[in-house]
Amino acid sequence: MTGKIDAQSLSKTYVSARSGERVEALQNVSFSVAPHEFVSIVGPSGCGKSTLLALVAGFVAPTSGRVLADGAPITGPDPRRGVMFQDYALFPWRTVLGNVEFGPLARGATREAMRATAHRYIELVGLEGFEHRYPHELSGGMRQRCALARLLANEPEVWLMDEPLAAVDLQTRNILQDELLRLWGDGGDPGQRRAVLFVTHGIDEAVYLSDRVIVLGRRPGRIKETVTIDLPRPRKALRNSAEAGRYNEYIWNLIRDEAARAIVEESA
Ligand SMILES: Nc1ncnc2c1ncn2[C@@H]1O[C@H](COP(=O)(O)OP(=O)(O)O)[C@@H](O)[C@H]1O
Ligand SMILES: [Mg+2]
Repeated sequence: MTGKIDAQSLSKTYVSARSGERVEALQNVSFSVAPHEFVSIVGPSGCGKSTLLALVAGFVAPTSGRVLADGAPITGPDPRRGVMFQDYALFPWRTVLGNVEFGPLARGATREAMRATAHRYIELVGLEGFEHRYPHELSGGMRQRCALARLLANEPEVWLMDEPLAAVDLQTRNILQDELLRLWGDGGDPGQRRAVLFVTHGIDEAVYLSDRVIVLGRRPGRIKETVTIDLPRPRKALRNSAEAGRYNEYIWNLIRDEAARAIVEESA
């Protein structure tokens, strides 16, 4: 397992069981994520970003097309693909430790091994001292750190993240972006990095984090363009750089008109 993802001609149409109404969410989307590569998906609200991630996670099946993980068709969820969402993040009835231990426990690790792993990742995300807190006793940023530790504790080959930082304030988001890059290995050996598929509506976030940014057009989602972010790593010094600014502007120009139309349609 190396974490290579191949999405081939993916289409997804949701059909309401009650009314029979059809929503075409994605149309003929193909892309790949190489091992060690950080790929983001941006696009206007409702363009099918979450659907795309759910297809790769194996939570939903495509209407046509297929997704391969290391050449084998994805038929359902797999712990080798770790998932992190904006809100469905933590079990409210479990402590930080209980949440982080959950994955390894479900995979049949021994109690000692599981606890050691959980503590290691709790420390890595900076939550030591908070092991016995419940999610409601944590700030938004700490909850997302905990969700990140839970993902990492499974040691997945692929990280699938759906707007994981959308619910936290701007300063916290900037800090967590840097933490995410650090944990991914932005400053280290590229061979140690995982494959990441990261959904965000933040263009600057996508540019800052990614090797490539896939820009989806309006519903039904189709790939408008894939932009290679040719900036050196580590990225930390480049956050407010002119080079990053040029990528932000380029991608914004790709989606501006469609984003504006999506707003009008949503409020109609
Ligand atoms: N389970 C579902 N049933 C019916 N329609 C859905 C379902 N999930 C998403 N959709 C619709 O599919 C489209 C794409 O949704 P989604 O993938 O959530 O977009 P995004 O994450 O880009 O905002 C939207 O029109 C949405 O309303
Ligand atoms: Mg979404």
